Amino acid sequence: GKVVLAFSGGLDTSICVPLLKEHYGYDEVVTVAVDVGQPAEDIISATKKGELIADKHYTIDIKEKFVETQLFPTIKANGSYEGYPMGTALARPLIAEEIVKIAKSEGAFTVAHGCTGKGNDQLRFDFVFRMAGLEVIAPMREMNLTREWEMEYAEKHNIPVPVVKEKPYSIDENCWSRSIEGGKLEDPSFHPPDDIYGWTVSAKEAPDTPEEISIEFEKGIPVSINGRRMNGIELIEELNVIAGRNGVGRNDMVEDRILGLKAREIYEHPAATVLLKAHSDLERLVLSRQELSFKASVDEKWSELGYMGLIHEPLFAALTAFIDKTQERVNGKVDLILYKSSVTVAGRSSPDALYSDDLVSFDSTTIDQKDSEGFSAFYGFQARLSKNLRNNN
Ligand code: ARG
Ligand code: SIN
Repeated sequence: GKVVLAFSGGLDTSICVPLLKEHYGYDEVVTVAVDVGQPAEDIISATKKGELIADKHYTIDIKEKFVETQLFPTIKANGSYEGYPMGTALARPLIAEEIVKIAKSEGAFTVAHGCTGKGNDQLRFDFVFRMAGLEVIAPMREMNLTREWEMEYAEKHNIPVPVVKEKPYSIDENCWSRSIEGGKLEDPSFHPPDDIYGWTVSAKEAPDTPEEISIEFEKGIPVSINGRRMNGIELIEELNVIAGRNGVGRNDMVEDRILGLKAREIYEHPAATVLLKAHSDLERLVLSRQELSFKASVDEKWSELGYMGLIHEPLFAALTAFIDKTQERVNGKVDLILYKSSVTVAGRSSPDALYSDDLVSFDSTTIDQKDSEGFSAFYGFQARLSKNLRNNN
């Protein structure tokens, strides 16, 4: 039989190729690497490796689709989980959809992935695969494999191992975020060495002079940096460099996975930190108080479903429709200052601002302040009544 394997070129998915043959008895393994904006050299090495060890290999570039269908929506939704911008969670379902397409065109009824039975990715993949009616094999989960066993097995099968034994981190990257976990990092009290970081410098190494940038949004989507218009992928890649060199977007945290396990996770997401900060700041200028408070809970639910990979849950589409409606007025420009790992908003402007300096200014007389006297007389009326009742009884 034939099986299609989601392939990254890392240790887990590499040893899946011989395992699917020796242990599971398949005679044809098709590997698929999906480009969601991980470093070009990773895609190149995954391609070479797939071509070397599998019977057939595909590399599919979906960067643009990833930005348009996942990253623009997560910006609009201020997407974050337990305080960090989601990344892996947004890429998994799209990767899975590409695997499904290849399985269909290859006439395979079974797909495989290298996720463990302890994490989130297995659930995000399986959800999409099961929706497509495919059978799923997950060797790491089914065989309860450890990384040490995997490394020995790889050596035995002449599979080049990218992780060295002293630095056995599990790294997942796309253009929105880089996650580093595993190995020594699994002790939450362990201080990570600086060499785990790939996109950001430390605050100490960052320049001593602040860097100013301005970002323009149209309908909730970033369209330019410093007045230069560019497409989503260019904008995100450029912003990763700018914010990364200023040490912006590092995060070392303990996270609650879907299964309930707590895990120590380290993230880098320079562009995401800047864009989410700028976007939510602009929303405060253009959305009404009612919209803002209601949208905060919609954003949270959207993010929760996104984290869980449940993007085909009917509620997800309904929440997305609400969010899109609010974003029609999220147009304008936000100026930010990047300085030694911090990002602060310096100013914002919008043709859709619900802001009137004429009304709010302490120096203007457009509003007759005496009008507030009547409002104030009624203000807190029930609380005063209740206090009086208690004093009298
Ligand atoms: N904890 C993050 C998440 O669930 C990152 C997972 C990283 N995945 C990986 N295979 N290294 O989104
Ligand atoms: C894995 O368990 O395969 C990686 C971590 C995760 O999915 O959360």
